[in-house]
Amino acid sequence: MLEPKMEGPVFVLFLLMGLVLEVESAIGVNWGTFSSHKLNPSTVVDLLKNNKIQKVKLFEADPGVMRALAGSGIQVMVGIPNEMLPPLSSSTAASDLWVRQNVSGYAGKDSVDIRFVAVGNEPFLMSYAGQYLNYVLPALLNVQQSLARANLAGSIKLVVPCNADAYEADLPSQGTFRPELTETMTQLVSFLNTNGSPFVVNIYPFLSLYGSPDFPQDFAFFEGTAHAVTDGSNIYTNAFDGNFDTLVAALTKIGYGQMPIVVGEVGWPTDGALSANISAAQAFNQGLIKHILSNQGTPLRPGVPPVDIYLFSLLDEGAKIVEPGNFERHWGIFSFDGQAKYALNLGLGNKLLKNARNVEYLPSRWCVADPSKDLSNVANHFGLACSVADCTTLNYGGSCNGIGVNGNISYAFNSYYQLRKQNSQSCDFDGMGMVTFLDPSVGECRFLVGVTETGFANFGECSKGLVSLVLIVWGLLLLRA
Ligand SMILES: *[C@@H]1O[C@H](CO)[C@@H](O)[C@H](O)[C@H]1NC(C)=O
Ligand SMILES: *[C@@H]1O[C@H](CO)[C@@H](O)[C@H](O)[C@H]1NC(C)=O
Ligand SMILES: *[C@@H]1O[C@H](CO)[C@@H](O)[C@H](O)[C@H]1NC(C)=O
Repeated sequence: MLEPKMEGPVFVLFLLMGLVLEVESAIGVNWGTFSSHKLNPSTVVDLLKNNKIQKVKLFEADPGVMRALAGSGIQVMVGIPNEMLPPLSSSTAASDLWVRQNVSGYAGKDSVDIRFVAVGNEPFLMSYAGQYLNYVLPALLNVQQSLARANLAGSIKLVVPCNADAYEADLPSQGTFRPELTETMTQLVSFLNTNGSPFVVNIYPFLSLYGSPDFPQDFAFFEGTAHAVTDGSNIYTNAFDGNFDTLVAALTKIGYGQMPIVVGEVGWPTDGALSANISAAQAFNQGLIKHILSNQGTPLRPGVPPVDIYLFSLLDEGAKIVEPGNFERHWGIFSFDGQAKYALNLGLGNKLLKNARNVEYLPSRWCVADPSKDLSNVANHFGLACSVADCTTLNYGGSCNGIGVNGNISYAFNSYYQLRKQNSQSCDFDGMGMVTFLDPSVGECRFLVGVTETGFANFGECSKGLVSLVLIVWGLLLLRA
């Protein structure tokens, strides 16, 4: 690659800028909203601020979330879901509209500080079998044009978060993009380079461990390993560095070895699989943060850590699809209700995570199996409850796996009851359910109490509309009386 010639003072300036960039490298979080018990977005923004988290990544521009972020000073990466790539790729009217509604709409006084727009989310994922492959670049170009027309192209950068399955190699230095992606990747990276955007990658050592029983446990963490990987003169002591450098090598091969890299998702779940537990998640996340903030970098990029990393995830999402595994619903550093799961120093000023404040819970009551009833015909109810509510912790490797047959039934009943906002009929189950005021939680197995859902996009708007309608009708009735 051609390097521009630099004169002395300019070179020093560049060095200084490099230093400034390095200091700015920060820890952010992903905020996903596939939860059956959503916290009020303003409660979540308060949680972010209280934990001094300055950067957040969203998977879409949920109006309730965006409004809560307005004026917060928190920097936002906002995503465009993959389903929108086809329409956005074929029409600049569609991309203009997207930018107007979801970006310009939040500009101005008390604006949302949008720094990045993520066009698609892991659109090249192998399991999508090329479904989005041909839409990514056209969509990217259209959204870029729309940003330019809105005079926002200078302040907002476009990125495309890629899963680490976009590249492969036995050793990091041999990294290449998947052959069928090479052309698209070359165009994408050239676009990113022209626009000063980073390459965004999601890296999951947990999935390597989960997916292959032979994967050496200690190589997933940052605490030294008996399984170091030697690659020429470089020695890798953790999977994260090895994965990151495989990307560096792949980028180098297509001519962009200097491309800045942001880690868009990285983390460890706490439930739903044997290796998904509190102590492993704490060890991984704390080890990762220490490693990043040490500015040590990786063997192929010594002294140059990723520009930013976004932990996956802020909160548990109990309504996520579990196709990849039961752990999918348990990635949060906080539980669904904003309570810290373990001690974690994010390196942002607080030594420990701080819990969400003023969380509005439903009343302290639970639905359990009535022990005086014959429960032999419960299978249908159990199945139905768990098909809509979250029962993932009951399975092998989960925190509630050992609570026995009746414990299982009670857990399912309660999950359903809380999902239905403790509606009294939702604890009937043909007379087999009963409401209790004693917390049935056992050991690590937590029987949850739901939170009251307010302030979310559609629900919030709709209920507000309904309330005003009722008030108006009531007012009219009063007037006529
Ligand atoms: C703005 O984003 C939201 C959330 O993803 C989406 O539902 C909506 O369709 C988008 N607006 C436009 C005009 O595309
Ligand atoms: C937690 O996960 C780690 C990492 O896989 C594993 O080594 C450990 O045995 C697990 N701990 C428990 C209590 O299951
Ligand atoms: C409880 O339910 C889970 C998930 O359906 C199952 O794997 C486990 O074996 C059950 N336990 C008992 C004691 O029936």
